[in-house]
Amino acid sequence: MYLFKKTQALRQFLETYRSKNRSIGFVPTMGALHEGHLSLVRQSLESTQCTVCSIFVNPTQFNEASDLEKYPRTPSQDLTMLYKAGCHVVFMPSPEEVYPTGLDTRIKLDFKGLDQPMEGRFRPGHFDGVAQVVKRLLDIVEPDKLFMGQKDYQQFLIVQHMARTLSIPTEVVMSPIVREKSGLAMSSRNQRLGPEQREQAAALHQTLLQVEKWMAEFPPREVEQMALQALQQPGLEPEYFQLVDGQTLQPVSDYESPAAIVACAAIWVGGVRLIDNMILK
Ligand code: PAF
Repeated sequence: MYLFKKTQALRQFLETYRSKNRSIGFVPTMGALHEGHLSLVRQSLESTQCTVCSIFVNPTQFNEASDLEKYPRTPSQDLTMLYKAGCHVVFMPSPEEVYPTGLDTRIKLDFKGLDQPMEGRFRPGHFDGVAQVVKRLLDIVEPDKLFMGQKDYQQFLIVQHMARTLSIPTEVVMSPIVREKSGLAMSSRNQRLGPEQREQAAALHQTLLQVEKWMAEFPPREVEQMALQALQQPGLEPEYFQLVDGQTLQPVSDYESPAAIVACAAIWVGGVRLIDNMILK
């Protein structure tokens, strides 16, 4: 496994692969890796010839300084996990490498409303930061395929929209959510949960599992209210629970007309914000 910290060195190295027509798969991460990240790495290993994983805690996507500060960082453990998984290349740049002075990396893009609801409402500016860093990393790595997790469904749609709108020749591939035994979706933020909080947080997945049953009897807004009520449990503070069109992220008004329906939710558990979702149609 090769480790690069400098953009230029990584680009030179990847050029040797590209010149031999070898395909490059890319898994961007913010580190504190878990099985969910490794499943993206494995998917890339299976379908491309060179897998690059980046570890960079992107400051521009955090709308609260304390959240950035508290974000878990486990670099040596991450490198061991990637090595064992068979990852070929790791890119661990400094903020100066990603955002060099004099280079305007901001993205001015109409996200067609995808950035407005849910995460966009509760984390203003978050998706501008995500789009900025993903675009910058794509410019550096120039992968054939980009692997992103379903857990961040809204992020996936925004990155896919960006790639299409800017004609970036990278296929954006979605990987299914990996869950702990309790059903809790794997997330770097889970590292900040105590054992009791982990148990409490499992209610989110249990509620998502109920939704399909409720949908058979109740209209969307009622189902959302029932889900929010189910999440009113000791230790939990639901932020939103929405049934949205899987393509536009607009609230669904019936279950027949949208081609895809996704239930998306965010909750707070002991000062840690968790998100999860379920594709229902
Ligand atoms: O999903 C994440 O971990 C981050 O948002 C990403 C895509 C690595 C960009 O910093």
